Amino acid sequence: MWDKIDEINKEIDDFTVETAEQLEQFRIKFLGSKNVIKDLFKLMKEVPADQKKEFGQRLNALKQNAQKRFDGHNKTATSSTDKKTEKPDVTRPGFPLEAGTRHPISVVRNEIVTIFNRIGYTVAEGPEIENDYHNFTALNFPEEHPARDMQDTFFVHDNGQAPEKLALRTHTSSVQVRVMETQKPPIRIIAPGRVFRNEAISARAHCIFHQIEGLYIDEGVSFADMKQTLMYFAKEFFGKTKIRLRPSYFPFTEPSAEVDVYWGLETEADYRMTKGTGWLEIMGCGMVDPNVLENCGIDSEKYSGFAFGMGIERIAAQRFGIGDLRHFFENNIEFLSQFKGA
Ligand code: DAH
Repeated sequence: MWDKIDEINKEIDDFTVETAEQLEQFRIKFLGSKNVIKDLFKLMKEVPADQKKEFGQRLNALKQNAQKRFDGHNKTATSSTDKKTEKPDVTRPGFPLEAGTRHPISVVRNEIVTIFNRIGYTVAEGPEIENDYHNFTALNFPEEHPARDMQDTFFVHDNGQAPEKLALRTHTSSVQVRVMETQKPPIRIIAPGRVFRNEAISARAHCIFHQIEGLYIDEGVSFADMKQTLMYFAKEFFGKTKIRLRPSYFPFTEPSAEVDVYWGLETEADYRMTKGTGWLEIMGCGMVDPNVLENCGIDSEKYSGFAFGMGIERIAAQRFGIGDLRHFFENNIEFLSQFKGA
């Protein structure tokens, strides 16, 4: 019995309390409602009468020791948890932070813009919801003219109160008009942006895509200037030195041309991409039609200029070897993360 008291006293002294859990275990064992000291008090009736007093005193001392130790541990245990929150483990690896990537369309657009910046072109912008005048009429598409069907248009249905017919712009050529209306020659701009056409979505076409428009207006600008500028672009962007201009038609340019870059026929991929011709079509271009200049308040007797327009998706698909244009619009992280560092 007496040994039991010594045993418990030693247990109280030796009990390690470092955490809040251990402190609670200590409390339950020595101070709780069913603690081991209470069990010893129950043995009082077996103690001979002459020893009862001493036994009682020893038990009380034991109880006090338990309380004293508990109070001491209470301070250190809580202060040690405080210390832990104050000092994080600086050697622990951080949480991974996913870095974003540029969209391949942005990568290619930025590169094209930079190439033209170097020869004095600045970026111009216009609205994506455009009126019929800026998208068509000012660009020499007469009302009801079949040329308007070259570009299937998404019309914006109004409530009958809109002052004019609105549509999603079908090309960035509308920005040419906005710039010529507000700026005086010399004008040298590049206009990247989103365009919209009412077309079925497939691997080769989408109803939303991106174009870059270029416009250069000054006195005495010639077709040769245009060709030189486009050769510069082909060399800078594709690393190719040979281009050709095929006659074409656009209402807003006269003469008009389609620009092909000579790619070569060295690999299987070259054959596929150029359909066995070695030539890759990259854009439309032409000398700005005098009617367009006049529509925008520019004297066509004094000034001339050229314009060009290219689709970014096709160029980006070629650059990165992407077979399906729909990838550009799906925002699939696995697809996009391939362009890290591009
Ligand atoms: N706007 C034409 C299209 O979307 C592309 C184009 C062709 C733009 C010739 C031009 C140009 O500026 O001169 O198909």
